Amino acid sequence: MHKVSLITGDGIGPEIVGSVKKIFKKAGANVEFEEMEAGIEVYEREGDPLPKSVVDSIKKNKVALKGPITTPVGKGFKSVNVRLRKELNLYANLRPVKSFEGVESKYKNIDLVIVRENTEDLYAGIEHKIGDYACESIKLITRPACDRIVDFAVDYCNRLDRKRLTCVHKANIMKLSDGLFLDVFKEKTAVFKGNAADEKNEQKLKCDDLIVDACAMNLVINPEKYDTLVMPNLYGDIISDLCAGLVGGLGLVAGANIGEDYAVFEAVHGSAPDIAGKNQANPTAILMASIMMLEHLGEMETAKKIDNAIKEVLKKGEVRTPDLGGTSSTDEFTEAVCELL
Ligand code: NAI
Ligand code: MG
Repeated sequence: MHKVSLITGDGIGPEIVGSVKKIFKKAGANVEFEEMEAGIEVYEREGDPLPKSVVDSIKKNKVALKGPITTPVGKGFKSVNVRLRKELNLYANLRPVKSFEGVESKYKNIDLVIVRENTEDLYAGIEHKIGDYACESIKLITRPACDRIVDFAVDYCNRLDRKRLTCVHKANIMKLSDGLFLDVFKEKTAVFKGNAADEKNEQKLKCDDLIVDACAMNLVINPEKYDTLVMPNLYGDIISDLCAGLVGGLGLVAGANIGEDYAVFEAVHGSAPDIAGKNQANPTAILMASIMMLEHLGEMETAKKIDNAIKEVLKKGEVRTPDLGGTSSTDEFTEAVCELL
């Protein structure tokens, strides 16, 4: 039995995590959850939204599944998500975005993977006031962090037989910081020669780079042309949500935060306060995260079983949450998946 830390989160967290628990039970998943609390209520009670016991639990179990956690805007405590990624050195954020059969969206046949650097860039949280006059946030990019994220992306492409790896940056303006990221990418991918867009290029993995604003436009016009994208933290955050929009929205897309020693799986979306407590949230994103977690644990059969059941329910389209144009509740969707299991 694998022991896994389970952080329920806040907002829609308890509802969608509840769905995972029911479905894991029904599927007979070989996983025992150690439930931990983090977030705004813990902050109000204990003064820290991320108590040491939560980090210790993940360090002990090595693997966690995490519900979304609210971060106050402009004031208050630092993001629990960002802190976890830094404290556990979860340097790679992997976000596969794939079209679901039967789910209406503007595009079909999307199969993208975002590899987001997860520990530095403007998200390092190094900022200060200069009196009342100005504020300064430091964009920190280091060579070791670039090295390991590019290595991770190349290794991922090789293992999963991905065909194209694109580095997304703004090195034309941030010549030093994004320049370093791009330099490392070019050094490490120099072996994969040739123009990635050239159809005559017969390299197994084709590598190229793209400026982030052009990337945003190209992903809206021609998303099918792209494959795996590696980028610094901030662009990764923004482009991930854009890509979620290509396949039907935030309710569908999952992510893994991966480091040398630990892995934390979560949905790409946040705590969705606008629909919290209404039994309306789509649990698919966190379920897809839990499937990535099962694969990480080597539980391939259970992962496949749950994946098939979710895709079957979405394909049939009879039971669908409001974000996908349906009228079903979180519980009804969960029940429909359980029935197929
Ligand atoms: P959000 O992702 O929570 O919601 C954006 C929109 O998408 C909302 O309209 C919401 O109802 C909808 N949505 C999101 N997930 C959904 C689901 N599973 N089913 C149906 N609809 C869904 O982003 P927002 O509102 O900007 O952030 C809310 C809070 O979440 C903030 O405090 C933010 O800091 C936090 N957050 C936490 C993350 C995490 O824990 N990893 C990631 C992103 C945001
Ligand atoms: Mg985000």
